[in-house]
Amino acid sequence: MNIYCKTLFLFAITLLGCNEKKVEGKAKEEVKLKGSIIKSDFGSTPDGSVDLYTIANERGMKVAITNYGGIVQSLMVPDKTGVLLDVVLGFDNIEGYLGEHPYFGAVIGRYGNRIAKGRFTIDSLDYDLATNNGPNHLHGGDKGFDKVIWTAEQSMSGEGFPQLKLRYVSADGEEGYPGQLSVEVVYTLTDDNDLRIDYTARTDKTTHVNLTNHAYFNLAGVDGDDILNHEMKLEASKYTPVDNTLIPTGALAEVADTPFDFSSFTKIAKGIDADDRQIKYGGGYDHNFVLDEPSMALPFVTVRSHESGVIMKAFTTEPGVQFYTGNFLDGTINGKGGVVYGKRSALCLETQHYPDSPNQKDFPSTLLKPGETYRSTTAYRFQVMPSL
Ligand code: BGC
Repeated sequence: MNIYCKTLFLFAITLLGCNEKKVEGKAKEEVKLKGSIIKSDFGSTPDGSVDLYTIANERGMKVAITNYGGIVQSLMVPDKTGVLLDVVLGFDNIEGYLGEHPYFGAVIGRYGNRIAKGRFTIDSLDYDLATNNGPNHLHGGDKGFDKVIWTAEQSMSGEGFPQLKLRYVSADGEEGYPGQLSVEVVYTLTDDNDLRIDYTARTDKTTHVNLTNHAYFNLAGVDGDDILNHEMKLEASKYTPVDNTLIPTGALAEVADTPFDFSSFTKIAKGIDADDRQIKYGGGYDHNFVLDEPSMALPFVTVRSHESGVIMKAFTTEPGVQFYTGNFLDGTINGKGGVVYGKRSALCLETQHYPDSPNQKDFPSTLLKPGETYRSTTAYRFQVMPSL
């Protein structure tokens, strides 16, 4: 290459470089944060101190999340009068979350829901997990992902929505599960009033993964009435009946003509105390529904409260949802503002693979192998009833 060519070549490279920088600069200028995130101290736990991240969007909706257990501590949504209402159960401070409570607002893992007798087998190796729910394993064991401190990073989605990225590395053998599992849970608050949760995980040994969030919703506000007057429409024509320890029998049963039929808007109260064996096993609803068409485009469920005018729609990529009506809440927990959380004062819609999948060969598999990425997304969208 002569000097002339070399100069031309260098000039071209420089131009290319500049161009690249310009494109980068432009992209950064275009996307502005649509909302805000404020970090505050949330106190200390035996494993270290934790923070509370309050995320707001430009429409005024707010969510507060702590990196202890990835817990959604409050979710403020506008009601029919425009006033912000807190629609999730929880506590005002970390002390509440360190005490006994039924997973209020937490990330659940490594396996959300029950595994029969706390046992499963992978590649002829048997694994034994804690039996922390009668004879069964529930929600990841004695110290699941709801009780660990997550590393938190404030971030922004490609569209400019505020995000909180939480990361946790679960050691090989933690709570009896095989493989080191690296988990990321990203909470995003969009300007559609969606609280979107994206879960990803990777493992170095074949393991079972089923992540979810255990928010307890009361759309009339957490200091309001119970959820018996809420109405729900659920796109699930089947559910997984259970035995008396709430382990699926393996069958998929039709909801038609049973108290499990929510194919049109139905008051929760209607079937919750029905004279039905399945209802009796759960003390109300505590069952996994098989979603007809899981998708992020169409809601699988719509719940509404005429009292507040708040509507919640939820979307998911998961094949199932555990619909739990807070049957085991018994008035012994004093939550935010000292409010007593009584029986059925909230409902949970825990998106997931079906319970006990590791032992049910006909259910969609929850196995995750090295080299694969576990992905799951759920969004809860809040609106106000149009007719009000
Ligand atoms: C279970 C309930 C349990 C609740 C709190 C739900 O996912 O299905 O049976 O009481 O979590 O642990």
